[in-house]
Amino acid sequence: MCGIVAAAARREVSEILLEGLRRLEYRGYDSAGMALIDNEHNLQLHKQQGKVCELEKAQKLHPHLGCTGIAHTRWATHGEPSGANAHPHISGQRVALVHNGIIENHAALREELLASGYEFSSATDTEVVVHLLHQALDGGKTLLVALQETVRRLEGAYAIAAVDVEHPDQVVAARKGSPLVIGVGIGENFLASDQLALRQVTDRFIFLEEGDVVEITPSSMQIYDESGVPVERKRTLISEAVEVVDLGGFDHYMLKEIHEQPRALAATYAQAATHPHIDDCFGAGAARVFDRVKAIQIVACGTSFHAGMVARYWLEELAGIPCQVEVASEFRYRKRVTHADSLLVTISQSGETADTLAALRNAAGGEFIASLVVSNVANSSLVRESDLVFLTKAGMEIGVASTKAFTTQLVGLLMLTLALGRRRAMSEEKQQEVVAALQSLPDYVQQTLELNSVIEELSGAFIPKHHALFLGRGIEYPIAMEGALKLKEISYIHAEAYPAGELKHGPLALVDDDMPVVAVAPSDDLLEKLKSNLEEVRSRGGELFVFADQQAGFVSEPRVKVFPMPHCPEVIKPIVYTVALQLLSYHVALQKGTDVDKPRNLAKSVTVE
Ligand code: AGP
Repeated sequence: MCGIVAAAARREVSEILLEGLRRLEYRGYDSAGMALIDNEHNLQLHKQQGKVCELEKAQKLHPHLGCTGIAHTRWATHGEPSGANAHPHISGQRVALVHNGIIENHAALREELLASGYEFSSATDTEVVVHLLHQALDGGKTLLVALQETVRRLEGAYAIAAVDVEHPDQVVAARKGSPLVIGVGIGENFLASDQLALRQVTDRFIFLEEGDVVEITPSSMQIYDESGVPVERKRTLISEAVEVVDLGGFDHYMLKEIHEQPRALAATYAQAATHPHIDDCFGAGAARVFDRVKAIQIVACGTSFHAGMVARYWLEELAGIPCQVEVASEFRYRKRVTHADSLLVTISQSGETADTLAALRNAAGGEFIASLVVSNVANSSLVRESDLVFLTKAGMEIGVASTKAFTTQLVGLLMLTLALGRRRAMSEEKQQEVVAALQSLPDYVQQTLELNSVIEELSGAFIPKHHALFLGRGIEYPIAMEGALKLKEISYIHAEAYPAGELKHGPLALVDDDMPVVAVAPSDDLLEKLKSNLEEVRSRGGELFVFADQQAGFVSEPRVKVFPMPHCPEVIKPIVYTVALQLLSYHVALQKGTDVDKPRNLAKSVTVE
């Protein structure tokens, strides 16, 4: 999604800004731009639709140089992807501004600015902000005060950075609802929407808080809180090396990340061995919270929501603790009745998803005894704002389609089940069984990866199809949902998941010889019931693709293709089967020629609601 990089330095910063944008590219965007104040105090602007490399080409052709600048990657919300709508937006050749988020009252502000004589050259919500800032500057305010006044007029979410040719060594910025971090340099300072963009220039960061407004120059920085009072914010040293991210011989990040799962799952579970007690994997104070907790509320979006749905089965069945799961965009706006002594669990790969973050904030104030986040990104907003934290060890995930982040989240949630279960219904024997299953998980995932060529062969059948149905029962139902999400997001084939028992209540009407039906078959008590559901599909001419335990008694026959999955412990089946479905989506997308790592219209980190 949108990315911001800004610099106030004594050296030329165009390459720093471009490198920052390159580091944010994986998040997804459709246009990019950069504005610099040159040494004659003129605003120099490049912006266009397309990739950062196009911006680099433009910069090579017509170099713009300067020591103060702002840059942006845009993921369109208001106004189509185009050069005109790309950021930075400028006002009167004086002010340039970049923005992440959505200004909800932009229409009213636009009317007001039009009436004051401002002209608009884009369809964005952002352009009102740059004109408001310009208007305040024209009234004789300093750049900082002008921004403080401007943000007071905004409704919605924003991270903003702006420069003004009349304050040529300053960058001002503000955040509310979208992340922004200061990178502290020596004789230079930076801003970005993600510290990753600045790891090339510094390892010292200040994460800004809600409502903060900041002014940086090469030699100073001043932060003000929402009410305009100067404040100090904590400095964080991030010393671990930035992960080297390359394709490592794979054709796509998604394929690489699918294959990294045995290592990522082992590393995530290994945290249990490096802490004296499993509770400690969730942060200081976890034991006290876990002793008190009587119910769990999970909140997340997309794939992370599916991880929550799987966890509900584990938490209720194994740990005997009531658990509810809800998508964050619904949870945050709903009047709720919460069980006494509930723990709020958010799940988010990025730790920055706007709805999940808003749900956490909205639940503050005594509704829950504590909050716990399961995230892949240390120092992300959700991590900083939650009481307890479980960090998955997936490593950086670049592919927009979440793979290793999902399966490592499941490991974290199974560990949470163990931590809570030992205090409740879970016998010592059952705990040992789950521990053994977690230890054996990387091997079973490896065995599943070895089915790659079989799955590749099967995937051809999906190429001419426009729709697909995914079925599962029990804990495999959320896995069917995740399989359908993966297929639709990267191959653009419309896919829906149903609990197999729901088939007769509607979706069976869709089944004909043009509708592939993918079944995630368990080998537990529900197997026989699933077999009957599949029979219903087959007798209506549907083509079945069954991912089943090799000991479950399924055999391939005309119009039924069975994929023999490794016979593994029941509790880890959701994780193991997911890997096969990831491979299926990957191969379908590959043959359809879609952009596997950056599917159209999607972003890696969804920082707007
Ligand atoms: C996954 O393949 C998706 N791209 C998407 O559903 C994602 O899981 C969702 O946006 C939530 O992201 P998060 O885990 O970073 O919060």
